[in-house]
Amino acid sequence: MSLPDTDERQLIAADISGYLERQTAKEMLRFITCGSVDDGKSTLIGRLLYETRQIFDDQMAALEADSRRVGTQGRGLDFALLVDGLTAEREQGITIDVAYRFFATARRKFIVADTPGHEQYTRNMVTGASTADLALLLVDARKGVLEQTRRHSILAQLVGIRRVVLAVTKMDLVDYDQAAFDAIAADYRAFAARIGVDQWIAIPVSGIGGDNIAQRGKAMGWYEGPTLLEHLEAVPIDSQSDSGKPFRMPVQWVSRPDQHFRGFSGQVASGRIAPGDEVRLLPSGRTAVIDRIVTADGDLAEAIAGQSITLTLDREADCSRGDVIAAARDAPHVADQFEATIVWMADEPMVPGRGYWLKLGTRTVTATIAHPKHQLNVNTLEELAAKTLDLNAIGVAEVTTDRPVAFEPYRDGGLEAPNRVLGGFILIDKLTNATVAAGMLHFALRRAENIHWQALDVSRETHSQLKGQKPAVLWFTGLSGAGKSTIANLVEKKLAAEGRHTFLLDGDNIRHGLNKDLGFTEADRIENIRRVGEVAKLMADAGLIVLTAFISPFRAERDMVRAMIAEGEFIEIFVDTPLAEAERRDVKGLYAKARAGELPNFTGIDSPYEPPERPEIWIDTTQLNAEEAADRIVAELGRKLV
Ligand code: ADX
Repeated sequence: MSLPDTDERQLIAADISGYLERQTAKEMLRFITCGSVDDGKSTLIGRLLYETRQIFDDQMAALEADSRRVGTQGRGLDFALLVDGLTAEREQGITIDVAYRFFATARRKFIVADTPGHEQYTRNMVTGASTADLALLLVDARKGVLEQTRRHSILAQLVGIRRVVLAVTKMDLVDYDQAAFDAIAADYRAFAARIGVDQWIAIPVSGIGGDNIAQRGKAMGWYEGPTLLEHLEAVPIDSQSDSGKPFRMPVQWVSRPDQHFRGFSGQVASGRIAPGDEVRLLPSGRTAVIDRIVTADGDLAEAIAGQSITLTLDREADCSRGDVIAAARDAPHVADQFEATIVWMADEPMVPGRGYWLKLGTRTVTATIAHPKHQLNVNTLEELAAKTLDLNAIGVAEVTTDRPVAFEPYRDGGLEAPNRVLGGFILIDKLTNATVAAGMLHFALRRAENIHWQALDVSRETHSQLKGQKPAVLWFTGLSGAGKSTIANLVEKKLAAEGRHTFLLDGDNIRHGLNKDLGFTEADRIENIRRVGEVAKLMADAGLIVLTAFISPFRAERDMVRAMIAEGEFIEIFVDTPLAEAERRDVKGLYAKARAGELPNFTGIDSPYEPPERPEIWIDTTQLNAEEAADRIVAELGRKLV
């Protein structure tokens, strides 16, 4: 499984900031900017960099040349060009969601996570925001507080950024009018109070003249507050240190260079650890004692939050990548059902019931999201009913993972830094590998806790032995009319003739009973397959060879069923019939209907079919007739089902 490189990028960014932090003892303020180029963001950041002399000479020369070229000479340097130039430069290499810029004054160092400001870039804000102390929100003096400003404020609040600067930009375009500024500040004050942002300040600025950015300027004598830079230099930095919290370290990898050494490597997420400390390994819950703390520079007597280390334990312990090593007496909970706030960041809306990768700490599991409990209207703060979450939506929903994970609530309720590592997660689309959402766990749902697995005396092994066969799920997939049912039916007959115990679940039949409440929307098809998967799993546990014949058009759900079924028992059979051929045969006359517009969401016509990439068995129906296909399958099964 390959994951997107977002995490790598975050690691790199964390490395850089860690490096800078070590270089000098000067305090560091991390902040994010929210706003778009139209809000004067580039000009403002360019100004900050320029005034703090972070612009290198060659860039300076290029800037002057560019400014001449686009004719801004009369108005001085065009700082937006500088920042946009840096952006373009950056994009030539790897595309990066968040650009980190560094600058310093005599008093402080700064890291700005510069996040593109258009609506669809909410995701960048969430990723860039995850370690920021402060959010710099830009508002155009002519436009005032917009929906985007409100959305960004809520997001900042959600991810745990307590301080906000509202930079009211382009004051020159409203003639430096105090009343215009006051009105915007009053507007924001009312909103901030409602969402609980209390540490905020509004500053009127002009990027062009530089007023109130690093220098005061003459135009806004009425403004008595600090300049932006003064404020950034003076604002208290809440201790981001997580070292006072209980010890947690998600295991990044297990290193085993030889038989004698077994180390668990990772970055300490919170707390401190020393040899002799007792730890608990999660999710197994087993305990062990720390033997050594190994780093590249030798063994340590103690490690604290932020350090990357390798731990060895006093005993052989089952612990692998994705597990969490935690303080034995104060360990996080383990659960597989949660309530969470979800910020949807993809163009494609969330599909309730679909399996997504959920990445929490170093653990990646499959998760499904239920229909949202509600979605937030960012303007009115009303909780609205919602069937799904669209791009930029913020909602609350239940999340179910396919195995238990160690977690902490993102916010413990107090004012201390949020539990980002074990409380914040991202969702990744299994097909595209794109990060589609960020989430913050609230709490585990107790529901599952009270339903214990009944330990059954007659086990699946017993069932299988009694029947004298290895159970399996033969999952036929393909277009409507591809021949799935016909071939599956023949295969079942042949297996039965060999004395095997089988059962065939067929789409058309199941849809008359168990799934008669389901139609053909994306969500209904997903639920169709989920239920069939569960039934197939039970039947396989009963020792049967189960055959299923469903279009099952989505890869994500076929993979979800694969993950549910015991290793090696899921056999995907792709009945590959080209659309043109299935349509030509049109056994049930459905393609004609669909083409006539009388049957919406018809697979292959106006609803997609995602062919398997690596099916266990591939049947090309243009080469084999049904009888030959069935023989092929039975022959291949003979090898797989001894
Ligand atoms: S699935 O997509 O959810 O896996 P399933 O295999 O259960 O579909 O049902 C497919 C059968 O339902 C088709 O063979 C066809 O007979 C019938 N059907 C009715 N409407 C549709 C539709 N819109 N798309 C596909 N099949 C449909």
